[in-house]
Amino acid sequence: MKIEKFTMESYENVIKLWRRSGINVGSTDTRDELEKMLQRNPNLFLIGKVNNRIIGVVIGGFDGRRGYVHHLAIDPDYQKKGYGKMIMDELIEKFRKIGVHKIHLFIEKYNKDVVEFYRNLGWEIRDDLIMMSFIPDKNLYKMRI
Ligand SMILES: CC(C)(COP(=O)(O)OP(=O)(O)OC[C@H]1O[C@@H](n2cnc3c(N)ncnc32)[C@H](O)[C@@H]1OP(=O)(O)O)[C@@H](O)C(=O)NCCC(=O)NCCS
Repeated sequence: MKIEKFTMESYENVIKLWRRSGINVGSTDTRDELEKMLQRNPNLFLIGKVNNRIIGVVIGGFDGRRGYVHHLAIDPDYQKKGYGKMIMDELIEKFRKIGVHKIHLFIEKYNKDVVEFYRNLGWEIRDDLIMMSFIPDKNLYKMRI
């Protein structure tokens, strides 16, 4: 798999890949929102290609303090071949190079099987934290693509 930086020309294919892989595509996945993410983190939004077809994607983000991983997906036809690990290893290396101290990710409870995948890569479950969220503008959040 060849790993490249995401550019907006891959937008449609990446949305299809997320949908095929069961990722919830939401209000922050519109073209405009992903472009904002890309501008803030131009080196951390990665795609993986096999035979020139996009089969993997992950969004990395750094807010100046912590790193975040969002929407990791490998095309179902290409899963369990080491590609998920490969794209995550590349992203972690990029975080390391910019000096990020700690990286977080969130797993929806319906998807808890994926915990084993991340454990394999050295991630640890946090049971000392409670995650809370706040929605400043409910209209924005309801937006669908
Ligand atoms: C999670 C996901 C990215 C893993 O990608 P993948 O390419 O299949 O994973 P890899 O082949 O690189 O697996 C690496 C290791 O993790 C293990 N692994 C992968 N998926 C696993 C799972 N669901 N449960 C347990 N172990 C798993 C592999 O067996 C492999 O172990 P090994 O090195 O001992 O052989 C992929 O299953 C996916 O896209 N899932 C749907 C979207 C999703 O849930 N994304 C995560 C959102 S938080």
